[in-house]
Amino acid sequence: MNSTVETLGYVDAEIPETLNLAVEIARLKEQKQAVIMAHYYQPAEVQAIADFVGDSLALSQQAARLDRPIILFAGVRFMAETAKILAPSSKVLLPDLNAGCSLADSCGYDAFKQFVSQHPDHKVVTYVNTTAEIKSLSYICCTSSNAVQVVDSIPAHEPVIFAPDRNLGSYIKRLTNRQNMLVWDGACHVHDQFSVQRILELKQQHPQAKIIAHPECKQPVLLLADFVGSTAQLLAYTQQQQATDFIVATEAGILTEMMRANPSKNYIPAPPDDSTCACNECSYMKLTTLKKMYLSLKYELPEVEVEPDLARLARVPIERMLSVV
Ligand code: 13P
Ligand code: SF4
Repeated sequence: MNSTVETLGYVDAEIPETLNLAVEIARLKEQKQAVIMAHYYQPAEVQAIADFVGDSLALSQQAARLDRPIILFAGVRFMAETAKILAPSSKVLLPDLNAGCSLADSCGYDAFKQFVSQHPDHKVVTYVNTTAEIKSLSYICCTSSNAVQVVDSIPAHEPVIFAPDRNLGSYIKRLTNRQNMLVWDGACHVHDQFSVQRILELKQQHPQAKIIAHPECKQPVLLLADFVGSTAQLLAYTQQQQATDFIVATEAGILTEMMRANPSKNYIPAPPDDSTCACNECSYMKLTTLKKMYLSLKYELPEVEVEPDLARLARVPIERMLSVV
């Protein structure tokens, strides 16, 4: 069968129908001393063959520790860029370069630079869901796992800019009780779309269910939630609680690990406003396939590069974050 994988930057010739991709990926990985890192939102078959599956924070911490010639990153571009910044001597492969992030896209460099220059006394805190250029303008980065600790690490009298997520930013502003925080008006197209009405309908059908939500969700969804946390924190909550039913307001890929970790419980994906679309799935995260991973490892393409001077600047706020948590 001929396969054309345009996003890899080359056209691949032959992948026999009979090729067992998981076995071939394992063989190439061994041969090339590569490591596969995957985010919880990745397709189930991708998570199944990864060496590390985690949230953004755990994956960055892992990248900082690893010393491998090749990191195959099953995730989105900002995550692969963060890995490259933290492990500059590794070749970082992203199986599909189109794996972007709507939240990172909602914070353009020129507009943000101008905003920052208008508030020179503010400490700039950016969520890792940003480009390396935005990180280079930042004092410190954060993830949804550590945003409270990161903001609390800045003395209370110092004003803060938080970017790019308006929902996470407003949530952290409430939790830290910080009045002097300006929040950039960006959002994730997946988390911004969960329907309060349809979550309430689900709750009526499953009155015992706990509602759990990622802090990138809109405030009305967060106010309904019994628990708000990063992907790793949501996962831990479902394991620690006695409850058996959970309505899960985050990207539906997290259900793979929830079911693997505790298959006897019932996880119900929260629905988006538009009942006709699978909007609770991140189309960028779902671009990874076993075939693209196989080709990526085989040809060592496409590689994520961060220009060294930019990487040096972007590394500072990431390392500052890693020293806080
Ligand atoms: P976590 O940091 O919770 O893994 O989330 C990453 C992300 O992209 C959320 O949309
Ligand atoms: Fe970005 Fe949203 Fe996808 Fe997370 S779910 S990677 S924030 S687009």
